[in-house]
Amino acid sequence: MATKKIIIRIDGRETEVTKDSFLLGVLRDNGVAVPTLCHHKDLTPQGTCRLCVVEIEQNGKKKLVTSCNFPIRAEISIDTTSERVKKHRKTLAEMYLGRWPKVPVIQEIAAICGATDKDRFKSELTDENEKACILCGHCVHACEEFIMEKILDFAGRGIKRHMTMPFGEVDPHCIGCTSCAYVCPTGAIQIVDDMNGPHDAKLIRDYGMKINAEMATLDKSQCRMREVGTANIVDVMDAYDLLPVHNYKFGQHVDTPNIDSKMLKKKYVTQGMPDGCWKGCSMACAKTVDGFELKTGPYKGSKVTVDGPEYETAAAAANMGCFDGDFLMEYNFYCDTYGVDTISVGTCMAFVMECFENGLIDKEVTGGKELKFGATAEVLQCLHEMAVGEGFGVDVGMGIRYLKGKWASELGADAGFMQDIGMEVKGLEYSEYVCKESLAQQAGYTMAVKGPQHDEAWLIFMDMVNNQIPSFEDKAEALYYYPLWRTWFGLNGLCKLLWNDVVPTANKNFPPQQAAKVPEHVEDFFKFFEGMTGEPLDENKMLDQSARVHNLQRVMSRMLGFGTRKDDMPPYRAVGPVTGEEYESRAEKIYDKQMKDILGIDPEGKTTEEKMEITRKHREDQYNKVVDAAYDRRGWTRNG
Ligand code: SF4
Ligand code: SF4
Ligand code: FES
Repeated sequence: MATKKIIIRIDGRETEVTKDSFLLGVLRDNGVAVPTLCHHKDLTPQGTCRLCVVEIEQNGKKKLVTSCNFPIRAEISIDTTSERVKKHRKTLAEMYLGRWPKVPVIQEIAAICGATDKDRFKSELTDENEKACILCGHCVHACEEFIMEKILDFAGRGIKRHMTMPFGEVDPHCIGCTSCAYVCPTGAIQIVDDMNGPHDAKLIRDYGMKINAEMATLDKSQCRMREVGTANIVDVMDAYDLLPVHNYKFGQHVDTPNIDSKMLKKKYVTQGMPDGCWKGCSMACAKTVDGFELKTGPYKGSKVTVDGPEYETAAAAANMGCFDGDFLMEYNFYCDTYGVDTISVGTCMAFVMECFENGLIDKEVTGGKELKFGATAEVLQCLHEMAVGEGFGVDVGMGIRYLKGKWASELGADAGFMQDIGMEVKGLEYSEYVCKESLAQQAGYTMAVKGPQHDEAWLIFMDMVNNQIPSFEDKAEALYYYPLWRTWFGLNGLCKLLWNDVVPTANKNFPPQQAAKVPEHVEDFFKFFEGMTGEPLDENKMLDQSARVHNLQRVMSRMLGFGTRKDDMPPYRAVGPVTGEEYESRAEKIYDKQMKDILGIDPEGKTTEEKMEITRKHREDQYNKVVDAAYDRRGWTRNG
């Protein structure tokens, strides 16, 4: 939707502005100085101090408005220096000066507004303290908007109004984040202890507050993590054909709306507020479902709180073909309760379902369960069996690699087909992204030291959607940098979501490959490191630090029997279409088109099998080339 523009006049000068912009920001962008006291650039405007008044004229009528919370919705003329404005500001400034004569910010405001009479409003309430609280409200709003707490508030009315904690006592819910002290313009709130003994607490606070403010102000227009958590990604992945459906065969499904973020928000997420993984988290994603009544298992009939679902859990449900919100909650709760990973179980279950549908296993093997895609009750039954160590659930709990071996040797099941569709590398199940169209993500998964979790290199969007790493060399560089960078910030206890889910507005000004790194947030993270340790950091030092740990992880991987090229080979399902149905679902959009455009082969008249063979040869060749390039960049032999 196009943003509506409006013409306004500021002190006689015409300018075009975006509808609904707050007037104060527009005035400042146009070089007009406006005194403020209760306004803070990163907090919701309050409109309480009234120092920012200007006179507007609309339809022939003039009136004073507070510019900080006045949204521009019609053509208006603004006079920022009329006699009415000047008088109003001067009187207010004298009142503030009479009450807090020694507070530097008040003295500055008084000077700007031409208020010199300190005694006009002098009274028994006059506070001579240089660090007096001036009731600006920044602390109250910072606590609420940055930290999602309501520790501070105003009490009393009129001249008795003052800032306080509940019942005037120290609130045990205060996490000591110091956001309130940081935004306080007078020093009325002081930090008395830095428990972790950082080298430079101010440096950490400066950069921490910057990130807090970005999350509080930008998330709502970028990711909505504070509204629906990472489940917002379900909608995005489905739209981009990347959501794993039916064991990664497809990338979208008509029933995705049953488990997408809109449905979760409408029907399940109950708190209607952020509820981060830990108190004080700058992002604080919302993802809690309260009072959900369980229908199966040992807690059947109980109303429980479900901590989730995250994207990966909802996507695991799609992968099993279980597009049912109630199933998703139950699955999420029991996986958490039993201490099993929703991704590994979901991916393994999806493999089992495809084997069942293709007749590789039958009800005799599954303990009587009809384990087709979408079999919600049977999935939960397997999960409960897994937890108590009984029945077919025990086999599922052993993972895809184990099942492939067992079914090939005991049942004579087609080992080649299972190798192609069994989504595991190094014994770990794939996380929930369809990576067929992203070479970088294919290698990111396989080269990950621990197997195809996406923590080390999540390059799918960068590669496929944003096309930021087009050549093999670009991909190899990304496969060098990102695993090291992500290993580094993980080691330092920093969260990925703050790095590149919500990005600074100026990030779009960087060239694509730089933008993908989110340089401003990388710098913020380096400053946290410097603030804690006293050691300044740059990209090279960070890569050195990380490489030491990453290499150690590889040594350990070698000791466990992995770590050479054979272990970095993906199942073909991760690279291209294994079945005819899968090929045909994207034939026109992708496979036939690529055959013609890239290979110069006319698909016309060829059978699906013939086309699949050509596609497979090409895709496996491309995969090997990207791995060669990535090994070269790391200085490894072609055997890894
Ligand atoms: S330290 Fe943090 S949690 Fe405590 S009152 Fe201040 S802003 Fe709120
Ligand atoms: S304590 Fe500081 S931030 Fe809070 S209202 Fe008073 S002056 Fe403003
Ligand atoms: S800055 Fe206080 S009312 Fe606008």
